[in-house]
Amino acid sequence: MRPLLPLLFVAACQTPPSPMPNHLPTAAADLHSAACPNEVRSTHLDLRLVLDFDAQRVTGTATHTIARAFDAAVFVVDTHGLEIQAVRDEAGNWLPHWFGPKDEHLGTPLRIGLRGATTKVAIDYRSAPDAEAMQWLHPEQTNGGKAPFLFTQGQAILTRTWIPLQDTPAVRITWTAEVAAPSGMVTVMSATERQQDGAVVRFVMDKPVPSYLIALACGDLERREIGPRCAVWAEPSTIELAAKELGDTEAMIAACEREFGPYRWGRYDVLVLPPSFPFGGMENPCLTFATPTILAGDRSLVSLIAHELAHSWSGNLVTNATWRDFWLNEGFTVYLENRIMATVFGDERAAMEQVLGMQELADELKELPAADQVLHIDLAGRNPDDGMTGVPYQKGAAFLRRLEQLVGRPALDAFLQAWFDQHAFQSVTTDTFLAFLDRELLSQHPEARSGIDVDRWVRGTGLPSDAPVPDSSLFTAVDTALQGWRQGTAAKELPTGGWVTQQWLRFLAGLGTPTAAQLQTLDQQFAFTRSGNSEILCSWLVLAVRADYRAVDRRLELFLMTVGRRKFLKPIYDALLAAPDGKARAMAIYQKARPRYHAVSQRTLDAMLGWTKS
Ligand code: BES
Ligand code: ZN
Repeated sequence: MRPLLPLLFVAACQTPPSPMPNHLPTAAADLHSAACPNEVRSTHLDLRLVLDFDAQRVTGTATHTIARAFDAAVFVVDTHGLEIQAVRDEAGNWLPHWFGPKDEHLGTPLRIGLRGATTKVAIDYRSAPDAEAMQWLHPEQTNGGKAPFLFTQGQAILTRTWIPLQDTPAVRITWTAEVAAPSGMVTVMSATERQQDGAVVRFVMDKPVPSYLIALACGDLERREIGPRCAVWAEPSTIELAAKELGDTEAMIAACEREFGPYRWGRYDVLVLPPSFPFGGMENPCLTFATPTILAGDRSLVSLIAHELAHSWSGNLVTNATWRDFWLNEGFTVYLENRIMATVFGDERAAMEQVLGMQELADELKELPAADQVLHIDLAGRNPDDGMTGVPYQKGAAFLRRLEQLVGRPALDAFLQAWFDQHAFQSVTTDTFLAFLDRELLSQHPEARSGIDVDRWVRGTGLPSDAPVPDSSLFTAVDTALQGWRQGTAAKELPTGGWVTQQWLRFLAGLGTPTAAQLQTLDQQFAFTRSGNSEILCSWLVLAVRADYRAVDRRLELFLMTVGRRKFLKPIYDALLAAPDGKARAMAIYQKARPRYHAVSQRTLDAMLGWTKS
């Protein structure tokens, strides 16, 4: 229970006059931010930051340019764990400020009293060493092992742990930054411009973006051009492999542009991070952040790049206004991702990836509470992270594929392109989308309108029965092999010649609950324990833990000690917990590995393992 008393002191946001001044559109109400952007809104942010690797803090000044509706006199920004040192206006005069009540997920609102015609508010502050958005890595946690490393992760509500700002995707700002780092270290940001000036690097983001897309990384980084508007950044020891693996990036951009309109961000670079990065990828504008676990050596896992790139349309250009609307970001992006994969790698590859995605969703739906199976999810009182399930991703994409099935691909493509064009650089709600869908697509296709229950798709649970069922002829061969295996065919007799990664993933997912002895024969034949493909290895390790196949132990521990990607950690620790004596083993490994994981992964695993700091 939250104490009631402080609530009395929380002034709710006032109703704005309409329209807002300076042609600011009304911002959607966001439960996960204390800001009142319809009273006072930040329009531009200037950052002056010093990165202190010893103290594991950023120190500096965040200066907001603000627009005010009527005579609103209080500017509210979100903070979480920030130490605020001073707040001044553009003339350098001190501004009164005070904190609202602290919420465990949302942090502490900072309320700033404005005087007269104040248009700029400068906040001197420093972040806490345990700021959740920042992971400070010791040199031994990097590939090179010599220099420390820092990266930030803003989505969903973590930017407020390193910058005091209106931390809601309903608000968009342009921004500039000047960042000072220790000498010899390279700093990059999710910006349209970067300029090195001695120890200081200057950045400009000239397009209005939501706060969760402001990102920074600093370490021993090298840059390699891979196309006319693409480069990769990575540690020197990884750059070669990364550049080769991502060689199809320009083709992916061109594919997406052809179907969905121009790429509007100038450059598209990819930063390959150290393995503790908690996500597969993060679509920071102009500079996707990616896990090194996609570097399989054969481009078999680059759909992740197609995904983060696709966010340049769905997510970064047209943004979910609140975290309830997350499916507008992720569902559309999974749909676009798969279209890109079909164009660049062929229909078969795309079909296999679709089948695997839908299979994962089906498995997840068996466990997920009904309320979490809804696209337009109710996140009141919850962390937006709770909404990060397969539902917004796969069910969201299936909804678009169902529409495509009804109206045909050309009509859906034209509709999506219009959606992106007409909402470019705007934040949108589910209701805005549904109105647009009805007006611009369904009203012109009466047979489609009567063929789909949109409300059931968006507000219902489970997967509607009209969801298209993808299929892949390349999986038929796998399913035949699996049948043979179940009937006793020896591993070496299985017809696996020429199989690609997705087929192996299908195979591993279809094995059911093999015994340790069976896993051993498979391992002898196919060397799964030595696989350099992180997806295959992860599936394999889960099977091994379940069967108590101990030949994987060293590989398992090495994997858990180096990789921090939550998607892999969750199922492996889950399997450990379910095994006899597994809990003790899981705890022993976690105790060693936990300090290497990012706060995002720690939070999930702490809850799973019942970890308490002591
Ligand atoms: N934007 C997400 C990552 C994210 C979502 C971070 C919500 C924090 C909160 C990113 O685009 C994403 O979906 N990444 C996926 C990979 C993708 C191929 C499905 C991931 O990291 O697993
Ligand atoms: Zn995504």
